[in-house]
Formats: sequence, structure tokens, C-alpha cells
Amino acid sequence: MTREPVLGTPVPRLEAETKTHGTARYAGDVLPEHLAFAWPVPATVALGRVAGIDADDAARAPGVLAVLTHENAPRLHPGEDGTLDVLQSPAVPHRGWPAALVVADTLDNAREAAALLRVRYEPETAELLTGPQDPRAYRPEQANGGHEADLDTGDFAEAFAAAPVRLDLTYRIPALHNHPMEPHTSTALWQENGDLVVYDSNQGSTTVRDTLADLFGLEPGQVRVITQHVGGGFGSKGTPRPQAVLAAMAAKVVGRPVRLALPRGQMAALVGHRAASVQRVRLGADPGGRLLALAHDAFNSTSTVREFAEQSAVPARVMYAVGNLRTTHRVAALPIPSPSWMRAPGECPGMFALESAMDELACSCGVDPIELRVRNEPTVEPGSGRPFAARSLTECLREGARRFDWDRREPAPRSRREGRLLLGTGVAASTYPLLLVPSRAEVQAVAGGFEVRVNATDIGTGARTVLAQIAADALDVPLESVRIRIGDSALPPAPVAGGSAGTNAWGWAVHDAARALRRQLADGGPDLAAADTGAAVADAPDLARHAFGAQFAEVAVDRDTGEVRLRRLLGVFAVGRVLNPRTARSQLAGGMAMGASMALMEGSPLDAAFGDFTARDLAAYHVAGYADLPRMEVAWLDETEPHATPMGSKGIGEIGIVGTAAAVANAVHHATGVRVRDLPLHVERLLQPWHSEDPR
Ligand code: MOS
Repeated sequence: MTREPVLGTPVPRLEAETKTHGTARYAGDVLPEHLAFAWPVPATVALGRVAGIDADDAARAPGVLAVLTHENAPRLHPGEDGTLDVLQSPAVPHRGWPAALVVADTLDNAREAAALLRVRYEPETAELLTGPQDPRAYRPEQANGGHEADLDTGDFAEAFAAAPVRLDLTYRIPALHNHPMEPHTSTALWQENGDLVVYDSNQGSTTVRDTLADLFGLEPGQVRVITQHVGGGFGSKGTPRPQAVLAAMAAKVVGRPVRLALPRGQMAALVGHRAASVQRVRLGADPGGRLLALAHDAFNSTSTVREFAEQSAVPARVMYAVGNLRTTHRVAALPIPSPSWMRAPGECPGMFALESAMDELACSCGVDPIELRVRNEPTVEPGSGRPFAARSLTECLREGARRFDWDRREPAPRSRREGRLLLGTGVAASTYPLLLVPSRAEVQAVAGGFEVRVNATDIGTGARTVLAQIAADALDVPLESVRIRIGDSALPPAPVAGGSAGTNAWGWAVHDAARALRRQLADGGPDLAAADTGAAVADAPDLARHAFGAQFAEVAVDRDTGEVRLRRLLGVFAVGRVLNPRTARSQLAGGMAMGASMALMEGSPLDAAFGDFTARDLAAYHVAGYADLPRMEVAWLDETEPHATPMGSKGIGEIGIVGTAAAVANAVHHATGVRVRDLPLHVERLLQPWHSEDPR
């Protein structure tokens, strides 16, 4: 019997109809009886303590059920993540920190009453301006992702001093916000037996369950977190967030189910951001552009509540052949909101700096930027000395060059015009690690087909769909006979939708369980099979596993106004086997759109007096819309990763954002001759140098 292949085909999202019809239930859509609503009251000082709260007016307002403060809120068992220790002390570590929580019978009543609360603060002086020279800067124990903070090979200082070509460049990226369309939302209810049920918007409800159990002193089996549909996360829902803790506290106090959907204006301070960063890149090379020395020193601001050291210097340990390498991470902890994960933490900002610097080196040496990268292609991973698994960066660059007619490009900047428009093209490389993470899954033969159970999370990526494809393929049955159950911590535990690792982690376990079930059924064995990939992950060979890509941009810059318009964006990726071209394209194009948005308009200024972000809603925090973007051209190589999962896939969720901003900035330099090292590429950054007739 031959069956149409299902893995690798563009299956539409299984939940597409429920989403377009509005019947898909998100965390804020469940309507338990007697539901009450909570509204947080954000602290209005940058640093200090709550000295007194006058809650009389708020408590008497219509419909108010409770006013929670640090004085009366349930005590928590504090864990590692300080952002969750809400209403436990009078301390205000940053502006926007919850000083109180009002609970009422309706959302409007909760919001009205919150405005009546009078909180008195004892402010302290906050020193908010920072940079790499800040005396408060220190070396963290580790950079995010468990990476060593510092890693050196050879002797950078000596090799750099002796290099014929030397560049010493500094790049700045402002704070960026994830801003998923669905705000962070929880609907919490306590059952009569003391168990806690939370409908929560997150990227991994096993982690949320375990964290809530710890905080409330419960066994994990007493907590159930349900996450059926999620309206985006981009990393901001990758860790448990305070709305889940506050909703559970409030539900306990009022004895009713409570919903807390964070107001958009409070998200910037409470659910993480990409840290504002300063990166110094030094490149020493021979006249042909071969690297002799490379230093990448990354600095970012973090908070006093939770340390976050973005691993921006880590890609320099992966990308190019260089014997003398220095990579460092430093942070300064300030009274500001806590940064955290945002799509491709580390790789995204790090590759903006490194890939801009490589373009600057290409210009300095008079070498084509693609040829420069090819000349510096390593044979082993420079930082670790490990051999690479599949590494196809050169092929991505070559394929992109072919599609982009790169050989017709005039290398000199400012050499193409169309009336007032200056035209240019740029290229940058892209990379993201292939992380192997253990997961469990079950597959059972049920009436009419098979049921797959795994606590995966579909944050809009198509996880459900691709898991059904993996199961159908491994069972050798049609897609229609597979039913997928995900998004519930009562299911077999599974890792977060993060690190571009979800499909590989869950899919590997689903594959193994499905294969085991197929064998069992053939032998007349039981109808249920379970898999745990923990041992297989631990036994995986010690290779440097990364996805690679090449990003190409064409821009038109208005000579008089400085307006930058994107004309073309092309990404060519080597991401292993593509399991669903429809959802994969959407991930890669979405990442590129986010990278272009970061290049052109995103940025969240920190108010130097108040220590909070001034752009707290989607009117002030600009993200690219359709009119700002060209048609996304996404391509991938025919690649299979043989050294990782049985599917041969790599991660695709994040690599699309990596390198895009550098490709755009490099194109702007090619168009105008102006090198912008501070994002975003606002018009004033372009106009200033060329109106002073000194194009850098
Ligand atoms: Mo993603 S930033 O790894 O959740």
C-alpha cells in the first residue's frame, strides 16, 4: 500500500478554522461561573518603597472584592525568578512594578477602583544611565543559555596589534519589546480540594505549573495549567509571568475564579524586553580580509530583580575562522524593568554587530562581502574546536547571490540612483543553534485512529499541525486519523516553545512513541506507547549544531528626507529538513519582518528620570506593518541534519530575525555611504552626516 507522504508537505494549520471563526479559546476566553477581574496598580517611582496605601475609597467602590497589597497578599515561597515575587514586600525595584492589585466583579469596576487607590512612596535616587564603562558593570556567572561569560582562544591583543587591517567599532541597540498581540493573560481558579487550575498564556505550561507549585507550596500534581491557544510570545511568554501569580493569589483571596489580562500599557515593565546593549567589535585582518584577531565585547543593562546577560558575543564563537578570539559579556543591574528573552536572544543583537562589522571589513579591504565570508569559513567551530554538524553557510550565500543578481552589483557606495533615491544592496549571514532538549510523549490507538499526547505549546507557529504530520509519518497512517492533544500540563511533560527547539524536542518524542506503538500493535501488544528522549539527547554526539542563513536587502533612501524604504528582502536558509513548507515559510518570513522592523523603526527609550519605558503601547512603539515591508522572499536549501533528531530538521523559529538588521544597515551604507551603527535607522541618523557633507 502506498500512501501520500505527509511530512514535508504544506499542510494547513489544523486549528485554522477555529481561529478564523473565533471559536479557538485563549486564556482570556474561558468563562467560569462567578468570574472576577483583576487590575494591577503599577508603582510610580523608579526606586524606593511603598510607605503607605490608602485603600478606603477603592475598597468602597462598586463591585470591589479585594485590594491586595504587600501587607495582605498571600505569602509565596520565593524562587529563582525575582520577577514573580509580587506583593511580597514594600520594595519598589523599578517603575511599573505592581504595588497593589484590585479585584472586582467586572473589568471596568476593577479598573475604576484601581484609579482610586492612593499609594504613598518613599523614593530613592536612581542612577539610570549606563554603559560599558559604568563602575557597576560586572561579569555575570554565565550568559543567557548557559554560555560562558568570557571565552578566549589564542592571544587577541597581540594578534590585533600586529594585524595590517584593524577596525574598532561600537554598535548600539535600544531596548526592544516583544509585544505579542495577545497580552499575558491568566484565568485562575482554586478547586474545593485545594488544587489550582490556571488557563494561562505562555510558551510552556509544564514550566508554569512547576513554578506555580513551588511559589504556592503545592505538589506539581496539585496544579494544572492549560494553554490551548496563544497569540504569540516571541520569548516574552517563555518564562512564567507575574499575571499567573497575581491571578492565582487573587482567586485564593476572593474565593472566586479571577482573570488578569495585563493591560498593554503595563506590559513593557512586567513581561521582559530585549535589553538595551552596547557592543564593541574589533577585527584584525590581512589585506585580503582573512581574520587574524576578533574581539566581541557585549554589554547590556539588566535589573536588580533578575539578571539577564544577553549572549550577544556567542555567535562570534561560531561564525568565522580566527585563531585569536576574545568574547566577553558584561552587565550592570539598574532599577529598571527586567529584560529577558526576545526572539533569538544573543544571536539577533550579536549578529547585527558582527555582520555590520564584517561589511565594514569588506569595504576596508576592498573585498566583496560574500567573498569575505567565504574566505573566513572555518573547518571547526572556532570557540570550541568541535566539528560542525551540517554547516551550509557558503551555499546559502551563493544561492542568495544567484537569486539577487549579486554579481551585477557595483561595489562602491552611492553608485546607483533613481531620481532623488539612492539605491543599495546589502548582505549578512545568519545563524542559530540547534538545541536538543528532552521531551516525553504518548501515542495511543483509539477508536477511529490515534491520539498523540504531549504538553507542547502552539504559540501560533503551527506546532499542532507539524506534530500531527510527524505522528502520521511515523505511524504510516493518513493525517486524518491522528488527533493531537497539547497545551495542558496534565499531558506528558515537555519543554517550552523556545530556543527554536520545540518541534525537534516534542517531535522526536512523538516520533519515538509512534514508532514504538506501531511495533507493539504489529506484535499484538498494548495500544499505548510512551517515549522519553532524555537518554537519546544525552547520548547525542558532541558536535557544533547550528542552522545558517544568508540575508539580502535592497533599499531606496530618499536623498532629501532620509526616508529608508525596503525594496526587497531575501533570506536563504539551511535549516535541515523542512517538515511543513507552509508554516516554515511563515516562521522565516515573520522573523525577517521582525528583523526589518528592528532595523527601521523599533526602539523603546528609557526615561532617564523615571526608569521606565516611554513607548508603552502600539501607538508609541512602532512595529513594521505590511506597507513598510516588501514581499518576503524565503528560500531554503535541500538539507537534512543527520546528527540530531529522526526528522532531520533544525529549528526555524528564530533564525529569520538573525542578520536581517545588518543586511538592511549594510544596504543603507551601500546606498548612501553613511554607516549607521546605532539602531534604528531613523532619518536623523542618516541626514546628519551627509548634510554636514562628511559622509562616513
Ligand atoms: Mo524564544 S526568545 O527562545 O522564546
